[in-house]
Amino acid sequence: MRYLITSALPYANGPKHIGHLAGAYLPADIFTRYVKAQGHDVAFVCGSDEHGAAITIQALKEKTTPKEIVDKYHELLKTCFDKFNIDFDIYHRTSDPLHHATAQDFFTNLNEKGVFQIDESEQYYDAEAKLFLADRYIQGTCPNCSYEGAYGDQCEHCGKSLSPKDLINPVSTLSGNKPTLKATKHWSLPLNQYEAFLQEWIIKDKKDKWRNTVYGQCKSWIDGGLQPRAVTRDLNWGVKVPLKEAEGKVLYVWFDAPIGYISATKAWAEKNNKNWKDYWCHSETKLVHFIGKDNIVFHCIIFPVMLHAHGEFILPDQVPANEFLNLEGDKMSTSRGWSIEMHEFLEAFPDKTDELRYYLTAIAPETKDADFTWKGFQTANKSELVDILGNYINRIVMLTHKFYGGVVPLPGEAGEAEKNILFDINAQTKKVHSLIEQYKFREAQFELMNLARAGNKYLADAEPWKLIKTDEIHTKTVMYTGLQVAEQLAQLMRYFMPLKAEMLAGMLNLNRHLNLTPGHQINDAQYLFKPIEDELIEAQIQKLKQRVEAKNETITPVHKPLKPEITIDEFNKIDLRAGTIIEAKKVEKADKLLQLTIDLGFEIRTVLSGIALHYKPEDIIGLQVTVVANLAPRKMRGIDSYGMILMAEDENGKLVFVNPKEAIGNGSNIK
Ligand code: MF3
Ligand code: ZN
Repeated sequence: MRYLITSALPYANGPKHIGHLAGAYLPADIFTRYVKAQGHDVAFVCGSDEHGAAITIQALKEKTTPKEIVDKYHELLKTCFDKFNIDFDIYHRTSDPLHHATAQDFFTNLNEKGVFQIDESEQYYDAEAKLFLADRYIQGTCPNCSYEGAYGDQCEHCGKSLSPKDLINPVSTLSGNKPTLKATKHWSLPLNQYEAFLQEWIIKDKKDKWRNTVYGQCKSWIDGGLQPRAVTRDLNWGVKVPLKEAEGKVLYVWFDAPIGYISATKAWAEKNNKNWKDYWCHSETKLVHFIGKDNIVFHCIIFPVMLHAHGEFILPDQVPANEFLNLEGDKMSTSRGWSIEMHEFLEAFPDKTDELRYYLTAIAPETKDADFTWKGFQTANKSELVDILGNYINRIVMLTHKFYGGVVPLPGEAGEAEKNILFDINAQTKKVHSLIEQYKFREAQFELMNLARAGNKYLADAEPWKLIKTDEIHTKTVMYTGLQVAEQLAQLMRYFMPLKAEMLAGMLNLNRHLNLTPGHQINDAQYLFKPIEDELIEAQIQKLKQRVEAKNETITPVHKPLKPEITIDEFNKIDLRAGTIIEAKKVEKADKLLQLTIDLGFEIRTVLSGIALHYKPEDIIGLQVTVVANLAPRKMRGIDSYGMILMAEDENGKLVFVNPKEAIGNGSNIK
């Protein structure tokens, strides 16, 4: 079998945190190590995603150039992945000329096939900077909450997703001037024309094959109706659109980035005497994309549509997207300071990379969001790695030295207990393998630990330290059998904890010999794992807290002056009604939005509300609320919202419902 394995190309606009590691890099590495060990032909590719407006904005903020930003972070990311032993065959970058050429060819291919539709539209333009303004480059007053620093794509204050034309008093962040509307032309991928393909390829075929969350997100996107998506941008940083009439335009970052997987494969193939087409154009090859859940639509819908429209490429076989990793009960966020960046962990615990790999896999957010806590890390290290795995290895290796000078003894006849543990070695190995094949890394690692648990129990029951006084032959049988467990642990650990596996292989002197056969000399015992002191853990927790506090102080509170006076008639224009939330769910790709179904007595409506960070959907079903019932409908994230829910908000951004004090009929007037 041939595999092409990818991890999401991280944006090279800043450091990446351990949530990213747990989501897209570590599981891919475990899987790759496993399939390689099975003898498959594998390419594991990744690289830096170096385009996009986010990077140009970062450059403006840091008063430098996009090039300097990506050079700096490309190096940082590459080094971090390396230190965590994420064993990419290549870590490429999208600023590489090979990538630009590959992405341009891809565009040209689709363009010549007539795949794109060309749309003219009006967009904000900064006459002084002579640039069309990306959504993020425009700031203005939020039409929803009156916050003055809202961006063209979203108000960071109330969470409402916006389009630039919604902003009141828009200002170009480049020049500070009022931007003007100017006609521009863009190439769009008409996703709507590929619904039949997606129905066939995903809806019919992937239900039982892909993770529920992945399939579910795809289904809701497809069911919601797909819209054409512009694949070009008026920007000067990125891959130039290879057309004369597209002067000043680049490919949209989400168009070029996934093609980065192809260019990375090409670069790797060139260096290693391989044919990249074997990996991308061969129906026998399995393409597997490891990503976080925020990337699902791009990898399951948009990129496959691009590949399908092109026609020469295979489509992903699996997209094992992960949920998010929280930190100490709160969402991880680099900008808020509530995060553990990969390089920070490496600075604090340079020799604990496998311990982190272990803990991240033990809590892997495969089916739901997971929570990293420093105490949890410390505990997992102590009560699992030190006390179970390390302890087993230490006991068996020490005893072998004590009893036999480190030479594997010749076993006598196996009893019932030996047969059982030999059976376990086999059974646990099969379980670990099969779970990895099902992309269930957390359970796979757990079954590895179960083998260590079984080993400990076997030794505790057999008590070789006592047995040696009464039955030398059976002691040899026990020790020989126990060493077989250790050997298999070393084999299985290779996928999850490569450095520790190597250390154990060294201890068992497995490098030259395949098996621990009688007469084989092992090396001295070393501690595989050590407890982590309380002070170190405490220091990390303090560091996190202090950093967030320091950041909070620098955020100036938003003062909202009283709005201009209105008359009672003006107030009466607002039709406020009591309504009950009968359904609530999260909105994909919008962290802050909940989609609510409201019973207004006389009708049922959909209302979107920016409260997802404050309330869980299941907690507010049945709640009676106040609805602005005559608000003009608005579309957000492709969903029409008919009204607004009244909330009170304090200066810290805490939101609470403004609702009738006692239950009252739905539809009742509020005045
Ligand atoms: N840079 C994107 C992110 O960090 C991921 C890009 S994945 C690719 O969310 F497929 F586009 F490469
Ligand atoms: Zn707002």
